[in-house]
Amino acid sequence: MADFSGLTVLITGAAGGIGTAMAERFAAAGARLALVDIAAADDLAARLGPDHRAYQLDLEDPGAIAETVARIGAGMGIDILINNAGLGIVFPADQPDIDAWDRTMRINLRGPWLMSAAALPFLKASGRGRVVNISSQAGVVAIDDHAAYGSSKAGLILLTKVLALEWARFGITVNAIAPTVVETPMALVGWAGEKGVQARKEIPVGRFALPAEIAAAAAYLASADAGIINGETLMADGGFTIR
Ligand SMILES: NC(=O)c1ccc[n+]([C@@H]2O[C@H](COP(=O)([O-])OP(=O)(O)OC[C@H]3O[C@@H](n4cnc5c(N)ncnc54)[C@H](O)[C@@H]3O)[C@@H](O)[C@H]2O)c1
Repeated sequence: MADFSGLTVLITGAAGGIGTAMAERFAAAGARLALVDIAAADDLAARLGPDHRAYQLDLEDPGAIAETVARIGAGMGIDILINNAGLGIVFPADQPDIDAWDRTMRINLRGPWLMSAAALPFLKASGRGRVVNISSQAGVVAIDDHAAYGSSKAGLILLTKVLALEWARFGITVNAIAPTVVETPMALVGWAGEKGVQARKEIPVGRFALPAEIAAAAAYLASADAGIINGETLMADGGFTIR
């Protein structure tokens, strides 16, 4: 396992399923964590050890992003930023839900951009900055009812490439992970019953991903070993998109 001792990892959406698995993974590998979420993550920070800090932040609020990231950077530095927080509202494309569309874009796409821009001075100062964006298989292939969510996650893949291009000169790499359905409590509600049985059959490995598997992929992309990988989207989908 890569060693993250002496490095600060900022994880958004840390209070939820995949974000919590990432926090556990990076804490076990020696990192100091800044756990960011609209929900309180203080208990998680305390459980993982005395060096970690929790910050409550609504990613829809650009001013709060700038202020919170500046405060985190000044207090603990930022070596690795994981833009994990996301919203999974789905609806048919012929029934426009404008509020849901706008909210999805603000949290899933504008949020990671503003978080990354605010973290840039600290990532530069790190000398080995890393950004890992959590996209989705729904940003790569068409899935029913995923017009807003899929578009936000496809946008995140291109944002990843542009940031990778612009910031490589600062020793920063920017990559994405595109998971299939991940077995978090929320996702399992959406993919319960026959829908879930069918969805698993359509994935070549025959199962959904585990949160720890997405955390392991993020740890790899954030590690020194992945220094040559830049602007890439790592499919963590059991082969769902290979056909
Ligand atoms: N679970 C899946 O099946 C799956 C599959 C592919 C991609 N993803 C992506 O992985 C990421 C994590 O998903 P998850 O399943 O762990 O979701 P989750 O809902 O369990 O957790 C998401 C976290 O983001 C936080 N959040 C939501 N809105 C926020 C806001 N405005 N400001 C700050 N924090 C906010 C929530 O409080 C929550 O703790 C998301 O980007 C999601 O789109 C999930």
